[in-house]
Parts: sequence; structure tokens; C-alpha cells
Amino acid sequence: MRRLLIAGNWKMHMTAGETEHFFKDFLPPFSEEPLKGALAKGHIEVAFFPAFTSLYVASFAMEGAPKGFSLGAQNVHWEAKGAFTGEISPSMVAESGCRYCLVGHSERRHLFGETDEMTQRKIGALHDVSLKPVFCVGETLEEREKGKTFPVVERQLLAGFDGVPSEKLSLETVVAYEPVWAIGTGKTASESDAQEACHYLRAVVARHFGKDAADGIRILYGGSVKPGNTAKLLAMDDIDGVLVGGASLKSDSFLDIVKAAVTTLGA
Ligand code: 13P
Repeated sequence: MRRLLIAGNWKMHMTAGETEHFFKDFLPPFSEEPLKGALAKGHIEVAFFPAFTSLYVASFAMEGAPKGFSLGAQNVHWEAKGAFTGEISPSMVAESGCRYCLVGHSERRHLFGETDEMTQRKIGALHDVSLKPVFCVGETLEEREKGKTFPVVERQLLAGFDGVPSEKLSLETVVAYEPVWAIGTGKTASESDAQEACHYLRAVVARHFGKDAADGIRILYGGSVKPGNTAKLLAMDDIDGVLVGGASLKSDSFLDIVKAAVTTLGA
């Protein structure tokens, strides 16, 4: 069974002080059932992707928390070091207490010019320091309306994974299917559309990297995930978690999303 990943991408929200407050509210329910048991059994993982400036505070806040919490960064440069003003290297991300790092988020692709080639370099550089990429792919509304969803996400996936050894995919890599038209719009993909795309992505992984990679790799859905639609999405066979933007910024709504995930496990 693939471990469910409930991830909060905080984007450019939450100062270090706000991060500290968030965890003071968010963590206490995890010392009680049913959340305590669900994490202890290892069937679910809760990850946060704060801004770089809040990583240290988040890592400190999570020190006394039960196992099952992880941290990730929102971006990384592919070089190990050098004259790249404003950039952060993979080892800097790792030393900040991170296990994960987002790659290819649609906001980076569309607002900051991140190309397929850059995603490929970043994924390789993250694997080199044993960080796990959370690799985002997704089509725009125009691409969906022209029936191009599958070719677009397949192109993105194969470009980013070019040269990645298949054994790195099953446990070391996560994919997030995030249709651009569903991000921050309140329009969630229906669970059947999300399942169809995630199933397709898993089949692409199987075709190019083998069955073990396809069976092991976790594929998340992201785009207007809320407490009310989490359980339906997670009930789908190929959806192994959710990547949540807006609804992860308030401790009570993100907690409700985690609780909905725990309910789907029957834990
Ligand atoms: P929203 O949940 O705000 O739509 O954002 C989704 C997202 O971009 C997560 O990476």
C-alpha cells in the first residue's frame, strides 16, 4: 500500500512568526486519537512546503511532533554552488530539515519561465543529495479544451524524468497532477477526471520505467482541494494524496483535510 501524502504548499504566504503560530494550533490534536494512531501506523504523512524563510521555524516546531511530519522547499537551483544570486542549492534545502522539494509547479512554469529542461536538471540534482522531488505537471484550460491533457502531462513527465533511474522513482519521487485551471480558482477537477489523469500518468511511468516504479510512485492531486472534497479524491485508486494551496494556510481547514484523509484509511 502506498503511504498517503497530505501536503500543504504555502506559496508566498506565512512569515516566520505566522508559521510559529500555525504549528502551535495545528500540532496538539496529533497527540490524541484518531490522528495519533494514523500517523504512528505509518499509513499517512503530512508535509509542509513553507517559504525558505520559514523552513527553520517549521523544522524547529516539528521537532517534538510525532513521526509522520515532513518538510519540503518550494524551489531549488540545480547547481551545487556558485554565483547564482538569489538561488538556493539542493544541499541548502536538505540542511534546512527538508525531505521534499517541489519542482515544476505551474506558477514557476508560467510566471517564472521554468522549462521542462530545468525540471529535469532539478530532479537530478535533488536525487543527488537524497531529496525527494514532488514533480508537478498539469494542463492549462486551453489545452484541456483542445483535448490535449494527456499529451501535455506525458510530455512534462517524460522530460522531467529523462535519465532518472527507475529505482529512484518508486520511493524517491512523488508526482503531483495539478491542472492549471483548478489552481486557486475554486474549480476542483471531478474525482473521475483527476483519477483518469493520475491513472494515465501511472501508465506512462509503467511503460517507460517498469511496473515496480509505477506501483511504488505516489501520485497526488492538487487544485482547489478543500476539506469537503478530500475524501472523494482520496477514494480513487490512483490518487495517493493531495497537494493543497489555499486550504493549507489555516490550521483548522488543513486539519480537517488530514482528518478526512484519516477517515478514508479507516484508521
Ligand atoms: P489551491 O489549493 O489554492 O488551488 O492551490 C493548489 C496548488 O497550487 C498547490 O500546489
